[in-house]
Amino acid sequence: MDSPYTLNRGPNAGEEQRLHNQHYNMWMPVAKHLLPPHIFGSLVELDHPPAIADLATGTGIWLRDLAAKLPSNARLDGYDYDPSKFIEASELPDNVRLLSGDILKPFSERLRAQYDVIHVRMLILGLKADQWAEAARNIKMLLRPGGWLVWEDYGHSGITCVPVTKEFALWSNAEVQYARSVGRDIM
Ligand SMILES: C[S@@+](CC[C@H](N)C(=O)[O-])C[C@H]1O[C@@H](n2cnc3c(N)ncnc32)[C@H](O)[C@@H]1O
Repeated sequence: MDSPYTLNRGPNAGEEQRLHNQHYNMWMPVAKHLLPPHIFGSLVELDHPPAIADLATGTGIWLRDLAAKLPSNARLDGYDYDPSKFIEASELPDNVRLLSGDILKPFSERLRAQYDVIHVRMLILGLKADQWAEAARNIKMLLRPGGWLVWEDYGHSGITCVPVTKEFALWSNAEVQYARSVGRDIM
């Protein structure tokens, strides 16, 4: 697959575990909420069942946790170009669907204006510097008028380890060199 994303290339079980550790032990303690409270609040006030899409969903862990907080008629669709990491359908609530989808390709017309909230998290390693606008255009067509885009991300300078170890420094150096060679934004 022609993609600058590096972390799909090892054994799947390890990557799935890493994504779940990252969700529970790194991201949620900092973010505190799955969605900003005013956006979550707007979902429960809608005059129709809420529809949420999680793009580059990974295993689908964020959607699975969000489903537990929303009514069972909410629609929760996750998309990733690598479906091999998806949580098994039997381990998901019935209203969570995980589907193949590349954020860099236009989504099907039947998905136009389907979602009240689009969520994207941690795509910094997956996009080249000149691909962010294209991704944003593809995302925009999925949003209902008045809907919310919630994009959580970070920069290369935010990836660290305390205390810095020799192994981290070696990985970080290789990662930045690779990022530069494929045209990722390394700021
Ligand atoms: C760091 S993981 C984050 C996964 C998930 N958002 C989370 O926070 O747990 C990045 C994800 O982006 C996906 N990805 C990378 N490039 C993509 C693309 N062009 N379209 C869709 N998914 C992509 C990868 O397969 C991977 O699952």
